[in-house]
Amino acid sequence: MRDTGEIPAWMKRLAVIGCFVALIPPLLAARARVTRSDSPRIHLVPDMDNQKKFKAQSANPLFADGRAMRPQVGGTIARGQLVTNGHLTTGLVDGAYAKTFPMPVTRALLDRGRTQYGVYCAVCHGVSGYGDGPVARRADQLMLAGKALWVPPTSYHTGDPLTREVGHLFNTITNGIRTMPAYGDQISTEDRWAIVAYVKALQRSQGASIDDVPEAERRQLEQRRASDRKAQENEK
Ligand code: HEC
Repeated sequence: MRDTGEIPAWMKRLAVIGCFVALIPPLLAARARVTRSDSPRIHLVPDMDNQKKFKAQSANPLFADGRAMRPQVGGTIARGQLVTNGHLTTGLVDGAYAKTFPMPVTRALLDRGRTQYGVYCAVCHGVSGYGDGPVARRADQLMLAGKALWVPPTSYHTGDPLTREVGHLFNTITNGIRTMPAYGDQISTEDRWAIVAYVKALQRSQGASIDDVPEAERRQLEQRRASDRKAQENEK
C-alpha cells in the first residue's frame, strides 16, 4: 500500500468508537448521582459492613412461631422499668399529685434539667418558657392557629402552670396533656424530674422580685441598674 500521508479509515472509525466508549463511565457516574437505589453501595472490600441478620418484624424459621422478634419473657421486668417508688415513677402520693420532689433538688439536677429542657421542650415552649419556641413561631407564620390547626404551647408564666403541683408537671411530661404529646417513652424518669425542677426555676426566674436576690448581691444589682439608666439617658 502506498503511503499517501492520510490516516487509514479503520483508524478513524476506531477513534470515534473509542470516544463514545470513553463517555460511558462518566455517564454511569452521573446517572448514579441523580438516581436513588435501595441496594447497598458496591463494596470492593466489604469490611463486614453488610452482614446477614434478621431485621425487626421479619420472619425467622428458627422459632416455632416464625417471628424474628421475640416476645417478652413472662414474669420478667426490663432493666430500669421496675416500679419501686410511686412518687418517683408516677408523680403521685396517695393518689394526689405530689407537691414535693422524690429526690433532693441540687445544682446538678437543675443543670441536667436545663440540658434536657433544651433538647425536648424548648422547640415548642421556647428557652424561657413563654411558648415562643421555633416550632410555635413557624406555626404563627403559617397562621395555623387562626385556621384552628394548631394549639399554641402554653406559657409557663401565666395561669394554670404557675400553680400546678410538681407531680402534675411530671405527669404532663410523662403522659402529655390535651394536645401536647407524651414524652415518657423518650425521657428517663430522673430526667423528667430534672426538667420539672428546671421549669420551676424558669418560673421563679421570670417572676422574681428584688427580695429574691441575696442581700449581698442586691447593692451590686442596683448599682448596675443605675448605671444602665444613666447610659440610656445619655443616649437620648
Ligand atoms: C410539640 C410541641 C411541644 C413540646 C415538644 C412540648 N410541649 Fe408542652 N405543650 C405543648 C402544647 C401545644 C401545650 C398546650 C396543650 C393544650 O392546651 O392543648 C403544652 C402544654 C404544656 C404545659 C401546660 C400544662 C397545663 O398544666 O396546662 C406544660 C407544663 C408543658 N407543656 C410542659 C412541657 C415540657 C416540660 C416539655 C418538655 C418535656 C414540653 N412541654 C414539650 C406543646 C409541646
